[in-house]
Amino acid sequence: MRSDGLIKLIILTVVMIMLYGQDTVVLAEDRIDCLICHKYRGLSRVDEQGNFRLFYINNDLFLNSPHRRIECNECHTDIEEIPHDKVDKVDCTQQCHIVEPSGDGYFSHKTIAETLAKSAHGKLDADGNPKPHQEDYPGCKDCHDQPLYRPLSAFKGVAKHGVSMRSISRCKSCHESGNFAKDFYEHVTSRLHKTRFSLEITEVCAKCHQDPEFMKRHELDDVITTYKHTFHGKMLEMGSERTADCIDCHVVEGESNHLIESKDVVTSSIHKDNVGRTCMASDCHTNASPNLAGFQTHVTYDREKYPLQFYMLVFFKALMALVMYFFLAFIFFELMRRLFPKFAFFKDNTPHHIADLGEQDQQDKEDKS
Ligand code: HEC
Ligand code: HEC
Ligand code: HEC
Ligand code: HEC
Ligand code: HEC
Ligand code: HEC
Repeated sequence: MRSDGLIKLIILTVVMIMLYGQDTVVLAEDRIDCLICHKYRGLSRVDEQGNFRLFYINNDLFLNSPHRRIECNECHTDIEEIPHDKVDKVDCTQQCHIVEPSGDGYFSHKTIAETLAKSAHGKLDADGNPKPHQEDYPGCKDCHDQPLYRPLSAFKGVAKHGVSMRSISRCKSCHESGNFAKDFYEHVTSRLHKTRFSLEITEVCAKCHQDPEFMKRHELDDVITTYKHTFHGKMLEMGSERTADCIDCHVVEGESNHLIESKDVVTSSIHKDNVGRTCMASDCHTNASPNLAGFQTHVTYDREKYPLQFYMLVFFKALMALVMYFFLAFIFFELMRRLFPKFAFFKDNTPHHIADLGEQDQQDKEDKS
């Protein structure tokens, strides 16, 4: 194993020297084989901030990722020659060569960015002015983090919603050649599920929404902890995938997952007029009464915001203390009686014990006769 790694390192060094030896290779074609260097597991360094950076690209993972048909330099557009200099950040909203079949236009994630900009997570307010604390607003990679190239099949239940991998054989009876059947089948079926586990989604949101400094800056409550205290949150922690996660409640059914709005926005899923409809979404409480909308997910014990809950808490704490101290006092007096059985605050002068003994004598005599 070790010598294997060593050989790779030597090869890499040789490749690099060869490439640096020449004048920089300007590539006329679009295609650059980035993997001649990036296939080496050891390609890494510690950056200026002291973080370990791994530049190794696992080609198997890449070829199983949703981006497999996109050339490396279609995203990393600033790389036009190798060896390359420092690389810019990728703009996720740029166009690629892929034609999106429903509209025949070149594909890009621009629509998602536009939706995001309209949502509570948009960086600009209604008048187009930057909102305060710009750095707190999420970009694509804040929610879609590592590992970037997670293969679809690795984290999706295959048998959900009656979708089975065996069905591919049915497509194959007509679409025989290549991976056509598999690719299209997986494309569609994988989109029928959530791409992330619900627990992962809560973690994504928690990155910001549970950060104490963030909550203070934006005057928001700890929505993560409060959610985890509810029935939904507990079901999730116990492994259920059928319970409501943040997205299920915060996105209007049928809307883009990126349109999360504040409760003050009339179209939002959590606006007081819409909560009932959100609970009754398909797959959820379809037959519920509108009263279910009264269910509060993010209850804190803040006296101003949730007075009822605050005073209930005070009441139960008081009740608990009362019961506990009452019985503690009981136990204490019982203990005292056992330790000092003859103790009395007021001494009675009649010699009870003599009278008692007299009775005992009487008893003994009766037993003998
Ligand atoms: C000659 C070998 C070689 C080739 C070919 C190559 N790279 Fe790199 N690449 C490197 C090395 C070495 C590093 C690490 C640089 C460093 O230490 O900062 C790197 C770093 C990177 C980084 C991270 C830069 C950063 O600091 O964030 C990206 C992104 C990248 N390469 C993309 C590509 C893409 C895309 C291609 C193909 C178009 C490519 N590379 C082709 C050697 C190569
Ligand atoms: C769909 C767009 C896309 C494609 C295709 C793509 N990348 Fe990237 N790549 C990204 C993004 C986004 C990042 C995160 C850093 C950033 O924002 O620039 C990244 C980061 C990297 C890094 C740095 C990793 C790190 O931890 O900083 C390397 C190296 C890299 N890519 C190489 C490649 C290679 C090689 C290919 C082709 C096999 C490739 N990329 C294809 C979007 C892409
Ligand atoms: C606030 C967090 C957040 C941000 C910011 C975000 N996304 Fe998403 N994205 C999600 C969630 C959550 C899903 C749904 C995942 C699931 O279905 O399990 C999703 C789904 C997707 C999907 C799959 C299609 C869909 O809508 O279900 C794509 C593609 C996507 N995001 C791209 C992007 C791009 C591009 C950006 C930046 C412009 C971005 N996202 C920004 C949270 C975010
Ligand atoms: C009985 C044969 C048959 C079966 C089974 C079948 N298809 Fe098709 N499929 C066709 C025909 C014929 C067309 C072209 C129809 C047309 O263009 O109107 C087609 C078109 C398609 C297209 C559109 C291709 C394009 O570029 O326009 C996709 C995608 C597709 N099929 C996927 C599938 C998948 C996935 C399955 C399995 C779930 C499947 N098909 C099962 C015969 C079949
Ligand atoms: C990168 C940080 C970040 C991440 C990750 C993030 N948010 Fe946010 N979120 C914000 C910021 C910033 C605001 C705006 C707060 C304000 O209005 O002051 C916000 C606002 C909100 C609001 C509206 C609150 C209000 O002010 O009315 C909701 C609802 C929300 N986010 C839900 C989510 C959900 C659900 C997720 C996970 C899918 C998520 N957020 C992920 C930063 C983030
Ligand atoms: C069962 C549905 C439900 C779930 C699940 C849920 N929320 Fe909420 N959320 C609501 C409702 C309803 C409101 C508005 C009323 C309130 O504050 O209780 C709200 C309010 C919020 C707010 C404040 C919005 C504002 O305008 O003040 C944020 C931020 C938020 N939720 C984030 C999250 C995050 C993050 C998760 C996942 C951990 C989550 N929510 C899970 C229903 C839900």
